[in-house]
Amino acid sequence: MGLCELLLRTLTALVAKVPLILNQTGDNSAITWEVQRYDGWYNNLADHDRGAADAALVRLFPAQYTDGVYLPRQEPRLPNPRQISNIAMIGQSGLMSYRNRSVLSVAFGYHVWSEISESRRPGCPPEFMHIKVQKEDPIFGSNSSQPILLQFQRAEWDPSTGKSPNNPRTQVNHVTAWIDGSSIYGSSSSWCDALRTFSKGLLASGSSQDMPRRSSSGYLMWSAPDPSTSPGSQELYEFGNARANENIFTVTEGIIWFRYHNYLASKLHKEHPSWSDEELFQNARKRVIATFQNIAFYEWLPAYLGTPVTSYPGYQKYVDPGISAEFEAAAVRFGLTLAPPGVYKRNRTCHYKSAVNNDASKSPGLRLCNTFWNRNNPSLQSSQDVDELIMGMASQIAEREDNIIVEDLRGCCSLRRRSKPYVTPHFTMSFWTSPVQRRVTFKRMCSSG
Ligand SMILES: *[C@@H]1O[C@H](CO)[C@@H](O)[C@H](O)[C@H]1NC(C)=O
Ligand SMILES: *[C@@H]1O[C@H](CO)[C@@H](O)[C@H](O)[C@H]1NC(C)=O
Ligand SMILES: *[C@@H]1O[C@H](CO)[C@@H](O)[C@H](O)[C@H]1NC(C)=O
Repeated sequence: MGLCELLLRTLTALVAKVPLILNQTGDNSAITWEVQRYDGWYNNLADHDRGAADAALVRLFPAQYTDGVYLPRQEPRLPNPRQISNIAMIGQSGLMSYRNRSVLSVAFGYHVWSEISESRRPGCPPEFMHIKVQKEDPIFGSNSSQPILLQFQRAEWDPSTGKSPNNPRTQVNHVTAWIDGSSIYGSSSSWCDALRTFSKGLLASGSSQDMPRRSSSGYLMWSAPDPSTSPGSQELYEFGNARANENIFTVTEGIIWFRYHNYLASKLHKEHPSWSDEELFQNARKRVIATFQNIAFYEWLPAYLGTPVTSYPGYQKYVDPGISAEFEAAAVRFGLTLAPPGVYKRNRTCHYKSAVNNDASKSPGLRLCNTFWNRNNPSLQSSQDVDELIMGMASQIAEREDNIIVEDLRGCCSLRRRSKPYVTPHFTMSFWTSPVQRRVTFKRMCSSG
């Protein structure tokens, strides 16, 4: 890291610290313990930015650029990504997880991923790496004389890298690599402030007490939502996780943690009526983060890995906690094979509830591909909808741990999000499945509107 860069980072960190210092002389003075920073700086006293938001990804292996500096290796040296997907990732949906993992555990996994890693923000100036689609492609194929391209924008990189073969381009992690609640409170104090009411330690709620507020203006912190669903970020729920509005799983997880914070803050307020907003907020935050860490490390991770984890031996200052490019690009994708094409809603007595589609028709469940960056999903409006979705996710078995990625992620929307709308108008799928392997075939075009 150059001296200028180091200075800039230190200054940025100092500026970020100012409100905290000011606060501490104000109503925050009753807090006698060190409040955990939002941006992950200074946990390591020798390398201050280790694990911090906007730190460069770590590399386990040398970079492999065509020019050794920043140009990606592409066709014809490497095979076409869409063709690989069509050969290797295609397959039957509805096969059950070998370990009976629930959809809720998959959704929690997504949340842990966004807690420690976010490298999808597009770079500036924009650089594109569109993926060519063959005419015969079952979903995106077309006989048009125009080439068919899935649009793909390259991710942001650390500006101090990518200048010579000695220093090839390295992408950045925009959130803290620590499990420190950045997916609930954001990775900066200003982000967190934007989520707060500054009254009774609460996060801002919207239509009802147990639903988060919806964004009313262009909110710059969210990662770019799919513009085809609606320009800007209006109507998206306000979360600390920039990706939380992406689909039903991430929205539901965001709402669960939002509710848990406000539940704890209200409980603390009853127990300690004299506590200020800041005391309530930081005490609730501390408990939320500890609970999240405990579930992630001692419950979810052993179940996910299938092996028990050793108990925490204490902070190891020589270990770089940064997320590696290899982990970000490959390892976490394993979780995608578990994602189901949709979820059922169930009420408290476990009865299935049908989902309402955008055109007011009904489906047996919520289809994943219809929920990408969806602002006004008729099936996800009230807090009861969320409760029913959580019940459904907790009682539905995830997809099998294999090479197959459901069409909702592989073909229909995930790719379409960045592509021209070349989706065939009628796309029949028979994907609905449940612990009892209920199968319903229905014809519904994946529409994000
Ligand atoms: C998964 O559930 C099925 C049906 O209840 C059961 O037979 C099987 O043993 C379970 N598998 C595991 C790994 O728990
Ligand atoms: C392209 O044209 C061929 C021959 O007319 C036809 O069989 C095929 O379905 C067309 N493909 C698409 C995607 O329209
Ligand atoms: C759940 O739905 C079923 C069928 O719609 C209904 O009979 C039952 O009363 C509902 N349970 C609750 C707790 O609302």
